[in-house]
Amino acid sequence: WSCRAVESERTLAMIKPDGLSGNYTERIKEVITESGFDIVKEAVVRLDAERASLFYVEHSGRSFFDSLVKYMTSGPVLVMVLERPDAILHWRALIGPTDARKAKTSHPNSIRAMCGLDSEKNCVHGSDSPQSAAREISFFFGDARSDAVEHDEL
Ligand code: TYD
Ligand code: MG
Repeated sequence: WSCRAVESERTLAMIKPDGLSGNYTERIKEVITESGFDIVKEAVVRLDAERASLFYVEHSGRSFFDSLVKYMTSGPVLVMVLERPDAILHWRALIGPTDARKAKTSHPNSIRAMCGLDSEKNCVHGSDSPQSAAREISFFFGDARSDAVEHDEL
């Protein structure tokens, strides 16, 4: 016989400086737990310019990069590892589109609609793929979940 559990997945969530200083943390954590996620790790972190640039390295060279780094270093952030089935897609759906102004009209119940301001100050982050989730989780919490199975990649 087989009795297979639905596979859980992990993603990196972050409450950015404006979300943390604006006291949205409790409300956001309610949304997280009401949506079936477990918060398996969390830490308050102060990024310096070097770390913020490294976190967003895929965007280096974009016109908004310097301003983004300034924003991300303007205060502490709260990083969390969230776990549930389909965590990556589910968290991205909950936070809504990058531009918080658009979120307010097109996704009024999203987290970015609740606490974001514009396309830069959008109050939360979510990994966008299994590869970025793995990279971003180890960026903040060190390598590999202890129960992970390692697969070789070509
Ligand atoms: P991106 O990965 O495109 O968005 P998301 O956070 O939804 O994955 O961009 C990363 C961050 O860069 C975004 O959260 C805020 C900042 N950013 C700007 O400041 N201006 C912009 O025009 C874009 C696209 C992003
Ligand atoms: Mg992104």
